[in-house]
Amino acid sequence: MRSKDIVKKAKKFCIETTFAYPLVVKSGYGCYIEDVNGKLYLDFNSNVCSCPIGYNHPEIIDVIRRFVGVGAHKIAGQDFYNEEAVELAEELVRITPRNLNRVLLINTGAEAVENAIKFAFRKKGPLPGVSCTNAFHGRTLGALTFTDSKAVQKKNYPEINHEIIKFCTRGNDPEINGLEELIEREWIPAFVIVECIQGEGGYNVASKKFIKNLRKTSKKYGFPLIIDEIQSGLGRTGKWWSFEHYGIKPDIITSAKALQVGAVISSKEYDPREPGAVSSTWGGGGRIDLAVGLKTIEIIKHEKLLDNARKIGNYIKKRLKEMKNRYQIITDVRGLGLMIGVEFSKEIYKDIIPKIAFKKGLLLLGCGRKTIRIAPPLIITKEEADKGLDIFEDIIKHLKR
Ligand SMILES: Cc1ncc(COP(=O)(O)O)c(C=O)c1O
Repeated sequence: MRSKDIVKKAKKFCIETTFAYPLVVKSGYGCYIEDVNGKLYLDFNSNVCSCPIGYNHPEIIDVIRRFVGVGAHKIAGQDFYNEEAVELAEELVRITPRNLNRVLLINTGAEAVENAIKFAFRKKGPLPGVSCTNAFHGRTLGALTFTDSKAVQKKNYPEINHEIIKFCTRGNDPEINGLEELIEREWIPAFVIVECIQGEGGYNVASKKFIKNLRKTSKKYGFPLIIDEIQSGLGRTGKWWSFEHYGIKPDIITSAKALQVGAVISSKEYDPREPGAVSSTWGGGGRIDLAVGLKTIEIIKHEKLLDNARKIGNYIKKRLKEMKNRYQIITDVRGLGLMIGVEFSKEIYKDIIPKIAFKKGLLLLGCGRKTIRIAPPLIITKEEADKGLDIFEDIIKHLKR
């Protein structure tokens, strides 16, 4: 079997990272991925929220075709201009509140976070930064400092000066004002960074009060609130950005994954405005990815995928809540739009359910300690949702308590 051979070779030559199961991708169509053996899988995680419009969309294929024969399809995009980067920056400003109107395009999510915190340090000096328990902001050393998801991600890696406050999912949490209390006890930080809905950390939804308190405190003491929208952004929760559910406006946001490239979108106040303060060779220069990112936004708009994320997301949540009533091993169902977490009573379920699902043609991924993420492409239909949920329920039904 081709996939077995490829996995064997990968184990020999490639460094072990985070492979969940032996899926060797060949192609994709709609919400399905085909592996190199010709088996089709229904994708319930969208390549970790990176493929919001699924696979082989004709408008995306047209964009990619446009670059055949162009030659300079990838350039040093922060040393030389290209139209795709400028168009994408303009579109990002269009779908973002008016105060966020300066864009830095970069490669990955972690790099977006690195640059966002550099914007803050540039203005505020080398003060400590603040992030939250269970946060995931990436794996480069700066971003990793502010990550608090799993011990294995951090062991022996040095950190910059920081403090971690509790991520509060309940309005009545005694630590709901943790940032202000930290400042009263210690110091004013350079920034606070938070995911409104934590991704890798367990699909935990922040309480409205918690996010509003972060906004209030950072305004009061004059440092930026950075919202990491790398997993939750670009329509995943049924709005362009997850912070829109919270009635606040951040000073800086980060995007990546669904956008195909990384981006920092900042208010003018935190734009470093100093040539050389930030840059990167390939940042803003992968013209195919930039054009696909722009087309992705256009498709989300004209196919009304924000509405679909809300509608199908609510339907999936309803079915999952019914399952929770039937099967005691499900302890919680939470999320917004098509960013839904199903928490189980034991860690083992998070690990074995995706493996069993893989054999049955459904692609799932775990997150946090005991949670499975349900995050299909935003184009998913009710019929496809039902198909995946039927497989999911069939697995749960047969698990011993
Ligand atoms: C919220 C969040 N921030 C940052 C990152 C890092 O992004 P990347 O893997 O593109 O470096 C991720 C990736 O999962 C993420 O979910």
